[in-house]
Amino acid sequence: MKKIFLLSISIALLSFYSCSSQQNPEITVPELKSHLDFLAGDVLKGRYPGTPEDSILAHYISREFKSYGLEFFSENGIQHFDFVTSSKQGDSNSLIFNGSEASPDDFMPFAFSSSGSVSALTVFAGYGFDLKNDTIGRNDYSGIDIKGKWVLILRGNPLSEDKKNVFSSAQKDRDKVMLAKDKGAAGVILVSGSKFLAIDELNASSGNSAQVGIPCFQVTRNLANKILSPAKVSVTELEDQLFQNQTVNSFDIEVKIEGTAEIIQQKTKTSNIIAYIKGSDPLLSNEYIVIGAHHDHLGMGGEGSSSRMPDTIDVHYGADDNASGVSAVLEIAEKISQLKPRKSIIFVTFGAEEKGLIGSGYFAANSPVPIENIGLMLNLDMVGRLRDSSLQIGGVGTSPGFKSFLMETEKESPFKFSLSEAGYGPSDHASFYAKDKPVLFFSTGAHADYHTPNDRVDSINLGGLKDITAYIADIAMHFANQDSRLAFQEAGPKESTSGRYRGKLSFGIMPDVSEEGTEGLKVLAVTEGKPAAGAGMKKGDVIVAIDGKTVGNIQDYMFRLGQLKQGDRVPVTVLRNGSRIELLVQL
Ligand code: BES
Ligand code: ZN
Repeated sequence: MKKIFLLSISIALLSFYSCSSQQNPEITVPELKSHLDFLAGDVLKGRYPGTPEDSILAHYISREFKSYGLEFFSENGIQHFDFVTSSKQGDSNSLIFNGSEASPDDFMPFAFSSSGSVSALTVFAGYGFDLKNDTIGRNDYSGIDIKGKWVLILRGNPLSEDKKNVFSSAQKDRDKVMLAKDKGAAGVILVSGSKFLAIDELNASSGNSAQVGIPCFQVTRNLANKILSPAKVSVTELEDQLFQNQTVNSFDIEVKIEGTAEIIQQKTKTSNIIAYIKGSDPLLSNEYIVIGAHHDHLGMGGEGSSSRMPDTIDVHYGADDNASGVSAVLEIAEKISQLKPRKSIIFVTFGAEEKGLIGSGYFAANSPVPIENIGLMLNLDMVGRLRDSSLQIGGVGTSPGFKSFLMETEKESPFKFSLSEAGYGPSDHASFYAKDKPVLFFSTGAHADYHTPNDRVDSINLGGLKDITAYIADIAMHFANQDSRLAFQEAGPKESTSGRYRGKLSFGIMPDVSEEGTEGLKVLAVTEGKPAAGAGMKKGDVIVAIDGKTVGNIQDYMFRLGQLKQGDRVPVTVLRNGSRIELLVQL
């Protein structure tokens, strides 16, 4: 009742905000500002999915689309979906092997584990791969029978490089479990060898993964060694053998395990908002271009919210992330509604991106048009902090002509492009790249206020946002008016390969090792295309802190680097011309 009351007040409020500024079909700073003020203002409290504010947000976007005369595939353009708000361990997780009960510190069900009990014998299946392609043929399951049994598998792969290798795309924990399940396993136990993870700790991904259908645990080496004891071999010995020999070594372990996993998932409803313009050319109108931006953010922040200030419970306004992208998509939609693109264009704002690209994943799996009719996806995520005219465009490797086309348009544009080939990125275009779609990902990059309550409208570069919005509207029209279809091209892995290996990281700088002392670490050179360069680090900067912890010299620097892992996004404080500047380095 309270919710409905709140909602009706808010919808009244909405009529006040919405459409008040929408007279001008051109892309204007006042209109962008008006969207930003609402989307990243106090009313929406940080746009957390599944909240009453999330519904107000959805209605705002829907009404805007409608006011431009766009069409919907469903009522108000709302595409509902569920997302898992929390998945926590229940009270009845246990692992008993040969009659003795494992300590709760030594095992943990994966967030994607299903609940259930299995009592069965155990098989060791190496790295748990079954791969056959041009470069590799390897089956860790050959010569063993795993039907109805527990399978013990090593995490990672036997080449260990933090770089991409032949195994990278098949080594996700969840994928290994799925494969074992497909081959008949009743349950799976994963353990990290010391080459994969130096510290013997459990770091099973928490969060929102869909359940796999069988119980699966991560265990410490300590526990795995006990499970392996009838075979008189340890995890480290097995890992060493597999690395050295590069052949499979799978065998029965004479141990019976009784394992019970209990994972409790809580689900909530949220939505994508989808509108479209039908193409004007009857021969081309069944081809669609998707222009999207995520509308959700971190709400009030807090532990587990991916806030970078988890102790501060306050509105995480997300003005740049990603009220900027949504405002731009609205303005592009309004402008294009007055033009006549030959191909059809879908405008979509995604929900629950911050929860793991859930909305775009749902869209890609439940597309309102046949997915094969989608020819291109343009994603706008964090386009509000243009600095030094530098616009980042990802995905340029996903279609052969992208690079030369973009470089041609750069000449006429007010931007300096920073292009990257990869189709995967930490935003919604990844869901389309995973479906073999050409994608382009526009962003002005990370900054010190990223995922904090300080990401506010007053720090948005409005002129820059306007220029970016206008530029993307132009290139969208260019692609929408082309006769031909863009060819898809692979550009790197389809999913994140980060967060796995520790220890072999670099910022991509040349440090000055000649200067001893405790005043910081001077940067002699910055390598183009590497994390430090991406964060805006410059030759001559002096690194004085990483993640708020002091760096006095090269030893401190190496130590701090050792605490980080691939995929981390870490604030780095540098001294430049006497002032302290905070940069955000994406590893
Ligand atoms: N807006 C960010 C992605 C981003 C980061 C764009 C830096 C441009 C520069 C997005 O909302 C986000 O937070 N993504 C997550 C990953 C995602 C898979 C949940 C992230 O980067 O941690
Ligand atoms: Zn974000």
